[in-house]
Amino acid sequence: MKITMINGSPKAKNSASESLLSILKGYCNLAAPDLVLNKMVIEEENMAEIWKSDALVIAFPLYIDSVPSHLLRCLIQIEEYARLHGQERTSEETIKVYVVINNGFFQGKQNMPAIEVMQHWTKRCGFEFGQAVGVGGGGMINFIKNVPDGHGPKKNLTLALREMAGNILQKKSGETKVFELNYPAWAYKWQAEYGWRMAARKNGLKSKDLNKRA
Ligand SMILES: Cc1cc2nc3c(=O)[nH]c(=O)nc-3n(C[C@H](O)[C@H](O)[C@H](O)COP(=O)(O)O)c2cc1C
Repeated sequence: MKITMINGSPKAKNSASESLLSILKGYCNLAAPDLVLNKMVIEEENMAEIWKSDALVIAFPLYIDSVPSHLLRCLIQIEEYARLHGQERTSEETIKVYVVINNGFFQGKQNMPAIEVMQHWTKRCGFEFGQAVGVGGGGMINFIKNVPDGHGPKKNLTLALREMAGNILQKKSGETKVFELNYPAWAYKWQAEYGWRMAARKNGLKSKDLNKRA
């Protein structure tokens, strides 16, 4: 079975989406090639890889409650390709779509509208929806890389991604899971604000400049 894991974050490196895919790859026990969609157009050879897949796992960050605009363009390109080539695949060969979204706010349920967008897109392509995971507190994901699976802030994440990995490997569908990391909301907010103050200082600004209105 060919599983293609797609990182839809526009970041060149160190994205939370990349970390989530790497955890999922570990659980799937495969060295699936990563496809990075951080531009507005999918190159021909990458489209061919996507089209040959049995399952697509698409990870991306939530942007303005939805899909980042470059990725939206890529999704439209896949949809057009599917419309032209759909008859080449039988209904048993349909591509199963799994989605992993992370967002900066604490609450994972913020990802619901984007999950619905992905469900509609899947249908329009003639693919089949497998499962969606929406995780809040995305700003923390790269900081908990070394926490053992299933422990501390990783409890919910491990459960959800392990379940999804099982479903991917069996090409099964599963329930949508939206959740938070196991961490206090106040501490997450405090750390985010501290990080912004540090970033402002690094860029020659004062903390109070963060409150300025344009
Ligand atoms: C342009 C932009 C829009 C965003 N919109 C939202 C949003 O609507 N809700 C939210 O919770 N986080 C939002 N975020 C935060 C990202 O979802 C968050 O930083 C995420 O962890 C980035 O994931 P990545 O590292 O995989 O790119 C936004 C970030 C940017 C840059």
